Amino acid sequence: MSRLLWAEKYAPRKVSEVVENRKAAERVVEFILNWHPDRKPKALLLWGPAGVGKTASVYAAINELGYDLVEVNASDKRSLDEIRRTVGAASSLSSLVKGGKRVILVDEVDGISGSEDKGGISGLVEILKKTVYPVILVANDAWDPKLAPIRDFCELIRYNRIRSNVVASVLAKICEREGVEADPLVLKKIAENAKGDLRAAINDLQMVAEGRRSITMDDLGVLSLRDQEKSVFDTLKAIFYGKSAQGMIMAASSSDVDYELLMQWMCENTWQHMQHPKELADAYNALSRADVFLGRIRNRQHWGLLSYVFALMSAGVSLSRETSGGGAPKYQFPSWVKDMSAARARRNALGGIASKVGEKCHVSSKEAFLSYLPYIKFIIEANPEVGAKLVKWLGIEPEAIEFLVSKEAAEKVKKILS
Ligand SMILES: Nc1ncnc2c1ncn2[C@@H]1O[C@H](COP(=O)(O)OP(=O)(O)OP(=O)(O)O)[C@@H](O)[C@H]1O
Ligand SMILES: [Mg+2]
Repeated sequence: MSRLLWAEKYAPRKVSEVVENRKAAERVVEFILNWHPDRKPKALLLWGPAGVGKTASVYAAINELGYDLVEVNASDKRSLDEIRRTVGAASSLSSLVKGGKRVILVDEVDGISGSEDKGGISGLVEILKKTVYPVILVANDAWDPKLAPIRDFCELIRYNRIRSNVVASVLAKICEREGVEADPLVLKKIAENAKGDLRAAINDLQMVAEGRRSITMDDLGVLSLRDQEKSVFDTLKAIFYGKSAQGMIMAASSSDVDYELLMQWMCENTWQHMQHPKELADAYNALSRADVFLGRIRNRQHWGLLSYVFALMSAGVSLSRETSGGGAPKYQFPSWVKDMSAARARRNALGGIASKVGEKCHVSSKEAFLSYLPYIKFIIEANPEVGAKLVKWLGIEPEAIEFLVSKEAAEKVKKILS
């Protein structure tokens, strides 16, 4: 069952639906309409941070104008060569006569890397010289020195981060359309957290709100780790949907997510990608071997083993599958994170009881914790009536004793007290 990303489902279909960077998107439309092979600029270079509508505004413009889009992958030399050929063929008039309403989009131009660098850039320059179609280039940083040769052909259009109140209003609309009732504070918090990246905000919203009727601040617990673990979803996706073992390993080792935590995420979520028992067994076998290496690293500081951990937990797991991909599962937070907060609640409750006992009995709360609490627990469980009096005298919240004594005893005491 595949799951549609809300960021795609709610991508702008028209330029008027582009928020914040609408002027830039309108300029894209104008550029396409006024384009002529002899006129300048030959191309637009849209640039700015991630998730602010660069790619989305090109799609919206194309959609609105009824043009075809030819996408070129700038970091794939073959794709560039092909375009060079197509652009050449196009100039043989025939397709002009056909009136091909077409735009060439070269997304993520700054992704051109490695030894193909020169070829990539000079290939682009050639396209820009010869093209009979409007070309739109997209990059995060227009001032990357390696883009200098193509900048001359381009008008630069800058995209800005989306202000958080605008992000929040987009989120509110999505909630409305999904039938989710959202506390405005929640949306505000998600919006602020995204730091101007609307795609990240929409992804976060989907994570907490999908399939629910309402969301409140409590549901945001899931996201509180998000700041530090920002790219965990990207990492999981790169591991499970990667094309090569090398890529999967890179995704794991270069992730912002610490490898111990990533390991937890993998353990918690791997099953969702496996369809057959054998795949499942192989995948968890890879994880358990990764865990053995992790243990050695922890105990003996054998950092050299880390590369095995990365390989096993990423490619080792993902390649256990005979079938590929599947839908986009709803990744679960590692259960230890939840356990940890349960443990923290318990510690807090017991600490509270200990300090009450300490006050009454004139001992430190540490002393109360170690020497008194076991007896108090025993008394309450053995004789809830006496226990209830004790709880009252000590001034302990009846709720708190749930963390100290058995469930039945706690229930009895609460009943007696109420
Ligand atoms: N200005 C915007 N108006 C409306 N929706 C937006 C806008 N910016 C981003 N979005 C939403 O976020 C999604 C991702 O945006 P987009 O693909 O345009 O990002 P981008 O700027 O190209 O980022 P990247 O540099 O990562 O490629 C869109 O599909 C859309 O749902
Ligand atoms: Mg983009």
